[in-house]
Amino acid sequence: MAEPLIKMRGITKRFGGVTALSNVDLDAYAGEVLAIVGDNGAGKSTLIKVLTGVYQPTEGDIFLDDKPVRFSSHAEATAMGIDAVYQTLALADHLDPAANMFLGNELTRKVAGITFLDNKRMRSETERVLMERLGVRLKSMDAPTESLSGGQRQAVAIARAVYHEDLRVLVMDEPTAALGPQETARTLKLIETVKAQGIAVILISHSLDDVFQVSDRVHVQRRGRRVGVVKTSESNTQEVLGMIVGAEEAA
Ligand SMILES: Nc1ncnc2c1ncn2[C@@H]1O[C@H](COP(=O)(O)OP(=O)(O)O)[C@@H](O)[C@H]1O
Ligand SMILES: [Mg+2]
Repeated sequence: MAEPLIKMRGITKRFGGVTALSNVDLDAYAGEVLAIVGDNGAGKSTLIKVLTGVYQPTEGDIFLDDKPVRFSSHAEATAMGIDAVYQTLALADHLDPAANMFLGNELTRKVAGITFLDNKRMRSETERVLMERLGVRLKSMDAPTESLSGGQRQAVAIARAVYHEDLRVLVMDEPTAALGPQETARTLKLIETVKAQGIAVILISHSLDDVFQVSDRVHVQRRGRRVGVVKTSESNTQEVLGMIVGAEEAA
């Protein structure tokens, strides 16, 4: 296998007296799905918030392409091609899909020196990215995003991330938590589509079914530590569950 695209080394994160992460290493490769699993409070969200620049580590280093990087904000991580889609999706539900796609980043055009929103181009770009990158056509481009299904809303959020042509790492925190079986299947398919474009996908999930369906490797967190990494094809839910709860405690 090639060198990891992302290497996190010795990451510790303390919030006052609480140690959320303790000397954690993480590797993520281009074109793979790395699942992160662990009980509530195991440090999953904190770990990916450190990776995406939301938090700064108390100790430890992050390497992108083997070069040390340091993000003092989420915007800095995004500029380096690392983005995240959270469970809440952070979509503006009352706006249409194109407005969501370009939220805070609107395309404009000038007519007689006056700047207007270029709604037509934002819409055609949204349709293009959804189709070309994700193979998705939305039910409606006019309706507020809240009227779309969970899977289609997910597609809009992912499209917004992959619109950056230089996207290299996409983090998804519990993307299927609020979805039914059919929408979950569609979302897993989207994850495979993104992975096939050479992007490193990091998937946080409570569903070991999802994890075993879509991931290549599984990183297990317990009480702020990485307790192991397994190849999905060489492991099973039983083994991973044992690591999540702690083998000695389960025995
Ligand atoms: N902003 C914060 N301030 C204080 N403690 C935090 C904060 N964020 C997370 N923690 C603590 O760090 C630990 C790990 O939390 P988290 O990363 O959210 O775990 P997970 O996502 O695996 O459920 C927990 O004990 C949690 O209470
Ligand atoms: Mg969490």
